[in-house]
Order: sequence, then C-alpha cells, then structure tokens
Amino acid sequence: MVTLRINGKLVRAKEGEMLLPVLQREKIDIPSLCHHEAVEPYGGCRLCMVEITKQEWNGRQNMVTSCLYPAEDGLIIQTHTTALIELRRTILDLYLARCPDTPEIQKLAAQYGVFQTSYEQVAKPDDCILCGLCTRICDRMGFGAISAGLPRR
Ligand code: FES
Repeated sequence: MVTLRINGKLVRAKEGEMLLPVLQREKIDIPSLCHHEAVEPYGGCRLCMVEITKQEWNGRQNMVTSCLYPAEDGLIIQTHTTALIELRRTILDLYLARCPDTPEIQKLAAQYGVFQTSYEQVAKPDDCILCGLCTRICDRMGFGAISAGLPRR
C-alpha cells in the first residue's frame, strides 16, 4: 500500500494501481470518456488529467492522465485546479465541434460551462467520440471486427 495526498486528504491505494479508480473510490468527480474497467486504460480522451507533484520535486508539477498514471508513495494530486478546469473546457469545446449532438458530450460540456463550441464545427457531425471503447472491447472478445482508425492495444 502507498499513501497519496489528494486535494489535501491522505488516501491509501495499492501501489501501481492507476489513479483514476482511486479518485473514483474517493467520490471525486473526474470526467472520463475512454475509461472502462473491462479493458486496459487507453488515455484517449484526456479528460481525466490531474496535476501531480512530490515533496522532493521542489515545486515542479506535471499534468498526467489519471487513468494511465500509477499510484506511488508520496504523490500529491490536485484534481480541480484552474489550469485543469480550463484544459477540460478546451477539450470539451473541441468535442462539441466534432459531435455536437452527442448527449454525453453535451452533458459533460454543460457541467464545465461550455454550451457551444468556439471552434469551427465539422461539416458532418459524428456521434463517435473516439473513445475507442467499442473497438477495444471487440478486440478483447477476440473478434477485431471493427476499427475506428485508432491504435490497438
Ligand atoms: S479516461 Fe483517462 S484519458 Fe480518457
């Protein structure tokens, strides 16, 4: 077991366990579109980014995808800094340009105060949010029958 400090609170986690499930266990609301416990983490949507640092890093911070970053002792994690919220707003703004009619995107974007894209909307909006879940689960079941043009894991 390792000890993390998440938004100022000490939390125990299994060493090597990815941060996102730890945050979810702690009931911290982290947006994620491409994560599902049935498949390996993919890191595609970038919405689950968090800021990390360690005491010995002398103030240096890093933004990492929490679904792909393993828990390690002494890690200090912030989940809702101004920079992270701005990053998530930008990503959701881009998603709204690609798939403006997708309810999940509309709901998440609205949670972050984004109701309309500030980017040029794609000519033919698509419902596919490129989370890769359908292709990864298809692969996991041993079929490999569909592709979204995404790298396979
Ligand atoms: S849930 Fe981590 S990048 Fe999508």
